[in-house]
Amino acid sequence: MKIIRTIQDMKQSIEHYRDLKKQIGFVPTMGFLHEGHLNLMREATKENDVVVASIFINPLQFGPNEDFERYPKDEQADTLHAEKAGVDVLFMPTVTEMYPKPMLMQMRIKGRTDVLCGRSRPGHFDGVLTVLTKLFHIISPDKVYFGLKDAQQTAVVDALIDDFNFPIELVGLPTVREANGLAKSSRNVHLTKQERNEAAWLYKGLQQGQQLIRNGEHYPDNIIHLVTKTIEQHISGKIDYVELLSYPSLEFVSSIDQQVILATAVHFDKARLIDNLILDNY
Ligand code: PAJ
Repeated sequence: MKIIRTIQDMKQSIEHYRDLKKQIGFVPTMGFLHEGHLNLMREATKENDVVVASIFINPLQFGPNEDFERYPKDEQADTLHAEKAGVDVLFMPTVTEMYPKPMLMQMRIKGRTDVLCGRSRPGHFDGVLTVLTKLFHIISPDKVYFGLKDAQQTAVVDALIDDFNFPIELVGLPTVREANGLAKSSRNVHLTKQERNEAAWLYKGLQQGQQLIRNGEHYPDNIIHLVTKTIEQHISGKIDYVELLSYPSLEFVSSIDQQVILATAVHFDKARLIDNLILDNY
C-alpha cells in the first residue's frame, strides 16, 4: 500500500492509474478505523481495480464547541488496518496541505439539512461537502463508498454528485454494529463502560419503532413517541432528536407510505452518537 501525503503526488498517482485504464474506488474517512470503515474498503476492493482511502480530520465540518481537538487518531493502526482491507493508496494530507490559505469559496447546501444532524450542527454539512468536493477533484474516483450509519451525509453526497454532475457512482452500505447492537463509531472510545452498554438502546429503541410500523402503525408521532420513551428510560445521556422522515429526500411525512428513515442522536458526557434505520418494508 502506498501512503501519499500531498495533493500533487496523489494527482500524479491517479494519472498513472488512469493511463492504465484502471477503475478507481474511493473511501473517504477521518480515521481511527473500525469495521464500519473497513467494510467500505473491502467492498470497494471487490468492485474496482484500485482502491484509494483518505484519512483527514476535516476542521471545516466541526463546530466551535465540537470535538475537533479531541477527535481520536492512530495513524499506525489505521495504516495496518487499511492495508489489510486491501487499500492500494492511503491519502493522508495535513490541514495545511488541504487548506493552505483561507478559502474564498465554500459549498453551501440548501436542502436536506434543516432536519436531523443538520439542525443541531449548523454548517457541518457545508464543511463535509467542501472537503468532499476537493477530494473528488483530486482523486476523480469512479465509485465512492459511504456508510448508511451517517444516512443524512449519504443523502447529501447523493445531492452533491447529482447537482454538480460528478461522474461518480455513490454506493451506500449498511451500518456495522457491535454484538450488542451499538453502531461502530470512532467516537465510541469516549464512552464509559456503562455508557457503552446504555448506548445499545439507541438501536433497540429504533428497532421497537420498526416493530410498531410492522404491526401496522402509520403515524410518525406515535412511533417517535415510543422510540423517545424507550431510549430515555435506558440512558443517562440526553436525546438530541428522534425523527422520522422520507429517505433520501428527508422531508416530514404525515403517514408512512414510502421509504423512511427513523433516526436518533444522543449526547453522552464526551460523545454525541447517532443511529438510524432505513425502512422500506412499511
Ligand atoms: P468518518 O466518520 O470517519 O466515516 C467515514 C465513512 O465510514 C462514512 O461514510 C461513514 O458513514 C462510514 N461509517 C462510519 N461508521 C460506520 C458504521 N458503523 N457502519 C458503516 N459505515 C460506517 O463521515 C466522515 O468520516 C466524514 O464526514 C467524511 C465523509 C470523511 C468527510 O470528512
